[in-house]
Amino acid sequence: MLNFEYYTPTKVVFGKETEKRAGELAKAFGASKVLVHYGGGSAKKSGLLDRVCDSLAEAGLPYVLLGGVVPNPRLGLVKEGIELCKKEGVDFLLAVGGGSVIDSAKAIGYGLYHNCDPWLFYDRKATATGCTPIGAIPTIAAAGSEMSDSSVITNEDGWLKRGYSSDYSRCRFAIMNPELTCSLPPYQTSCGCTDILMHTMERYFSHEKHTELTDSIGEALMRTVMHNAHVLMEDPQNYDARAEIMWAGSLSHNGLTGCGTAGDWASHQIEHELGGMFDVAHGAGLAAVWGSWARYVYQEEPEKFAHFAIHVMGVPADSGTTEETALAGIRAMEDFFRSINMPVSLSELGVHPTDDQIREMAQKCVFFGQRTVGGFKVLHAEDIEKIYRMAL
Ligand code: NZQ
Ligand code: ZN
Repeated sequence: MLNFEYYTPTKVVFGKETEKRAGELAKAFGASKVLVHYGGGSAKKSGLLDRVCDSLAEAGLPYVLLGGVVPNPRLGLVKEGIELCKKEGVDFLLAVGGGSVIDSAKAIGYGLYHNCDPWLFYDRKATATGCTPIGAIPTIAAAGSEMSDSSVITNEDGWLKRGYSSDYSRCRFAIMNPELTCSLPPYQTSCGCTDILMHTMERYFSHEKHTELTDSIGEALMRTVMHNAHVLMEDPQNYDARAEIMWAGSLSHNGLTGCGTAGDWASHQIEHELGGMFDVAHGAGLAAVWGSWARYVYQEEPEKFAHFAIHVMGVPADSGTTEETALAGIRAMEDFFRSINMPVSLSELGVHPTDDQIREMAQKCVFFGQRTVGGFKVLHAEDIEKIYRMAL
């Protein structure tokens, strides 16, 4: 087991009608004027935005609104948000929506705190020393941004999608009402379940030994998500299944499932370039590339993939050699993705990159030769090109 730090400062308030506590919580965390940040309209349509604003008003907190965050959130709106907050004297950011909204709020928080262009952080030109405080009311179980230290922003100039991680951006509180996710279209529910699984798999596929507890937590989490994703396919309004998945989403990305492991993260980096260039939904993009990544890297440690096959995917332990069991596990995960209508190739994702585009994505992925990606197998640009081609 590797040395690790585990830091989860976010206060979680979980359950039905908890959004009514938004004002009380923002006030408790020092807000005197709030930016309510939201997306393309789902929070407005469902009435959630009104309930949140009522709660702020009841707590005596003035607020301003900024909607319009799109999936793969853009730097342009982040900058607009920073200017609005400066003009209005905002000192607390409340993100009401999906991971894209929470990430957009985090980027606003960096820019506001440092009074600078927040792209400096995402472009690795500066290191954050703070962030305006943020609270989150997630409406989709997916990115786990409500408890993570990460955010991912797309710069329209060059369509670069870049992540930045810092504990300063961790939300002060997360209000999680599973009922809020009942209005999700089935495709978004499946994208979210895929992302949650991937946040666990990225940490699980790692070469460290003696991570029995961490691995077992991850295995239980993955089995829980797959089981409840199937429940939701039949019964999208099932509160208990929504609750299991929502809690799994947060635990999957707050560090718990990676304690003592180095993690891999190549699939995420490979997907981020698809998101930047083709604007695909993050979860669907992950499903489309994971099988190709897995087949490209599993020989680094077939035993780990075989363990995954048996303990997560339910592949019988006596189903052949270690390699055969490993490959059966990869096929089983792809079958699961298909069963929730997720794509398992780029063409199923609706993306048909040219050779030039594949080269460009691979180069962007390694920051034009400045880094490699992946821990389970270290990948260079030529490896990433091969994985994109395998995924076609
Ligand atoms: O904009 P609205 O109208 O709200 O519609 C959204 C959006 O179209 C819709 N939606 C959300 N909640 C809904 C709803 N529709 C109906 N009812 C609801 N209750 O769902 C669509 C997707 O929303 P988005 O916020 O983009 O989804 P998600 O949470 O999957 O976030 C994806 C973004 O997070 C990044 C991804 O790269 C991507 O940009 N990630 C962030 C991470 C982090 N901060 O830790 C880690 C992840 O690995 C990921 O990279
Ligand atoms: Zn993700």
